[in-house]
Amino acid sequence: MDRLLLLTLLITTTLPLSTSLPSFPQCFSKIYAFGDSYTDTGNAIPPRRPYGETFFQRPANRYSDGRLMLDFVAQSLGLPFVPAYLNNSADFKNGVNFAVAGSTALDSDFYSSRNLSISFLSPQSLQNQWNWFSQFLQAQCRGAHAKDGCIDDSILFWVGEIGANDYAYTAGTSVLPGTVRELAILNVARLVEGLIKKGAKYLVVQGLPSIGCLPLSMVLMSSTKDDIGCSAFADRQSQLHNSLLQTKLEELRQHYPNTVIIYADFSGAHRTIMQNPQAYGFTEPFKACCGVGGPYNFDLIATCWTDNVSPVTWQRASACPNPEKYVNWDGVHMTDALYRVVADLILNHGYSRPPFPELFSSKGCVN
Ligand SMILES: *[C@@H]1O[C@H](CO)[C@@H](O)[C@H](O)[C@H]1NC(C)=O
Ligand SMILES: *[C@@H]1O[C@H](CO)[C@@H](O)[C@H](O)[C@H]1NC(C)=O
Repeated sequence: MDRLLLLTLLITTTLPLSTSLPSFPQCFSKIYAFGDSYTDTGNAIPPRRPYGETFFQRPANRYSDGRLMLDFVAQSLGLPFVPAYLNNSADFKNGVNFAVAGSTALDSDFYSSRNLSISFLSPQSLQNQWNWFSQFLQAQCRGAHAKDGCIDDSILFWVGEIGANDYAYTAGTSVLPGTVRELAILNVARLVEGLIKKGAKYLVVQGLPSIGCLPLSMVLMSSTKDDIGCSAFADRQSQLHNSLLQTKLEELRQHYPNTVIIYADFSGAHRTIMQNPQAYGFTEPFKACCGVGGPYNFDLIATCWTDNVSPVTWQRASACPNPEKYVNWDGVHMTDALYRVVADLILNHGYSRPPFPELFSSKGCVN
């Protein structure tokens, strides 16, 4: 079984909302990012083709057919795509990405002490990303430029979705979702506070997607569906998680009133799209674009990221010809098209709290 099996988890021509993403060039000069495969731009082993084909026309070290949410954010800020920390040949002058596919919000020790450290489990937790960040600062801030850890107002901190892997890794074990929720949010809050103490002034924290709408959840636990046809149990975990996360972020805002902390409502945007997919240009809300067999074009054994043959159809996963019509890319991760609409909803259409433009106005940037 591939380790990615347990990973978690905008269309220019027909877009009914704004026709382009907002553009705030020169507001921030760097993005420092954290997260899992929803945000990773190359720290984890890149999947083979057809990953990256839609936008990049080549494998682009992302778990999507094209760009991720973070890529659209970078484009809106007039910045280059954020390079992966582990890429030795990358130029970090406009930012660095510590997000790594498979990453957990809970510490690695949590899993190893419960014998849940399955061999294919990525060892990278949010704690590891913090360690990478600390090493990065030490290396960058050596010598004459060293002051206050080299963090200034020109940096946007992006804490991408994290925690979905924890729910996936503990599903069916004695670890309860409530435990995962408490510990995951504690660690996210710890990261945010750690960043603030290092000098971060502008942060965006992304909530979980609606994990019940992923083909993975639909295959494993769709016995009870919610009002939009997604797995009710899994979606409830997303909602509970995101609401506790927002409570924690509000506490941090009270504690650090000079810091701007934006909550990016990924699941709100995701659900809005799932409620009315056609309005956003999607004809396939539930099927994975890249996969094989079954009602969701998703087979746990023959996934897009493996070369395995399905024991049911005797075929390998392959990509659909029109990924721009699909919400989901490979059963677990989203398409370039979905990330584009979600980015637009979050940046432009109120799917963030406080509204995203406050990030720019509080910094004195004008569009
Ligand atoms: C590393 O960065 C270089 C230079 O930007 C880029 O060409 C290459 O694709 C990157 N590799 C990975 C694994 O991200
Ligand atoms: C984990 O596995 C080891 C070795 O099999 C065993 O000794 C230990 O009791 C297990 N721990 C738990 C918490 O199950």
